[in-house]
Amino acid sequence: MKRHVIRSQDFTPEFLARIFDRADQFRRMMEHPAESKKLKKRLKGRLINVLFYEPSTRTMASFVDGAHHLGATVFCTADAGLTSSTVKGETFAHTIRMFNGYRPDVLVVRHKEEGRLAEGALLLNKIGSRTHLINAGDGPGQHPTQALLDVYTLHQQLGSVDGVKIMMGGDLLNGRTVRSLAYLLSKYKDVHITFAAPKQLQIGSDILRHLDEHCTEYTCVGEDFRNLLPAQHAVYWTRLQLERIVHEDIETQKKQREELARIQKDCFCIDAAEMALMRPDAILMHPLPINNEVREISLVAEDDPRCVIFLQAENGMYVRMALLDMLVNG
Ligand code: NCD
Repeated sequence: MKRHVIRSQDFTPEFLARIFDRADQFRRMMEHPAESKKLKKRLKGRLINVLFYEPSTRTMASFVDGAHHLGATVFCTADAGLTSSTVKGETFAHTIRMFNGYRPDVLVVRHKEEGRLAEGALLLNKIGSRTHLINAGDGPGQHPTQALLDVYTLHQQLGSVDGVKIMMGGDLLNGRTVRSLAYLLSKYKDVHITFAAPKQLQIGSDILRHLDEHCTEYTCVGEDFRNLLPAQHAVYWTRLQLERIVHEDIETQKKQREELARIQKDCFCIDAAEMALMRPDAILMHPLPINNEVREISLVAEDDPRCVIFLQAENGMYVRMALLDMLVNG
């Protein structure tokens, strides 16, 4: 297991098997008050720093709550982009160096810019730090712990990830969860991924190249994605990443955002008709949040028993607890 958790390509099959077992074990223990008390000893006396430069609900809360369930002391800066010394012009490298001096066992960071976490990991290695760095999302780059909880949920709900047919839809160009999930799925056997998106938001060629290199089959489709819904074991939908559609001219930016939102609303939503096309034993996933204006998953679809979005969120805490525990205790 690597010291830092930066990209989903780095997870080995042995690591995946161990972390999913441990997440299962922690889930079972949390269901019994006496057992959950024992969990409190696992990270007793340990310090976890959580530093978020971008908005978050689930990722941050599941790391913080999970660390508390394991008995750790947690220090959290939720809006580091506004309240940390970044506002005063401090570089990310200085912030990382400084945190290292306070000797946290784990530093969990979400950043606006792709590649920053990888730089942070290099810096920590260079200065001989003992702190583990976790990427909780680096701009449009990756979100490896989301991919872990997504694959954990696939395994839990479908019994196996090998042989899975999954359709990923929505904003595949700017969404980091689909990127990390595609990398992780390429480690399993006989997976077929269908990427369903408007052509302006289709998945990046770097991901397709990786899938080719790892002999993972895929298909790219547009608004005719519905024909392929009946073949899927899992449908993984995502919101339009409005915050990543930027243009120097504000009016142009507004128009681009409105146009893409209209395309998603008109052609790339999951509603009752799409649910009717899905297999009775298929699952509907979404990393959340759902954009309530676009409603890429409708209220009707959300109420369908095949929709596992809140289960994914809950699984996120157990998987992140398992990850913290494995980094610190082995
Ligand atoms: C995702 C993210 O931050 O990339 N949210 C999450 O962590 N569950 C998805 C999103 O923001 O659309």
